Amino acid sequence: MKFFVDTAEVDAIAELNALGMVDGVTTNPSLIAKSGRDILEVTKEICDMVEGPVSAEVTATDADKMIEEGRKLAKIAVNIAVKVPLTWDGLKACKVLSGEGNMVNVTLCFSANQALLAAKAGATFISPFIGRLDDINLDGLELIADIREIYDNYGFDTQILAASIRSANHMSECAKIGADVATAPPAVIKAMANHILTDKGLAAFLADIEKANIKIV
Ligand code: E4P
Repeated sequence: MKFFVDTAEVDAIAELNALGMVDGVTTNPSLIAKSGRDILEVTKEICDMVEGPVSAEVTATDADKMIEEGRKLAKIAVNIAVKVPLTWDGLKACKVLSGEGNMVNVTLCFSANQALLAAKAGATFISPFIGRLDDINLDGLELIADIREIYDNYGFDTQILAASIRSANHMSECAKIGADVATAPPAVIKAMANHILTDKGLAAFLADIEKANIKIV
């Protein structure tokens, strides 16, 4: 499973990128607003830092304007994936932009039917939002599994980009289901390293190191 980082904070991307943990980056208008940066400027900086796809989201809601914005975003760098919302207009924009050879990430997906439409419209990525479904007592991971089954049934090559990930558990569950990509905030990716028994075991080793005065260098 590929790891995308869900942030527009360049320092956090750089830290994870140095460890080989970044296969791509996703941003959205809320993350751009949080960064306090100009969208075109920060997106270019991120594209220069990472080799993989960098999703940049359109701001328009009508297809023609989304296409115009998408073309402008795609000019930033070769690794831009234009992000459009899963609306009827977004699907129209997806069809045109993907037909022109651009990567397109269809976002705000909350149902298997929406994912089916995005694949038919030529999406490179479909972004089902796990956490926001869990927030309303629906099962976000079940949606990932349903889309996996449907895409595999028909050989769609649209990649499942599990989004709205809130916990390290979401990451391993997505990997078990077979999501192609999971995008997560930097803190969630780092939290994947944590285990209480690792902490306990290390504390015991450190106590013995001190007791026996073990030295290597
Ligand atoms: C990424 O592409 C999505 O925009 C993001 O994962 C949404 O996450 P949130 O539901 O935590 O805002």
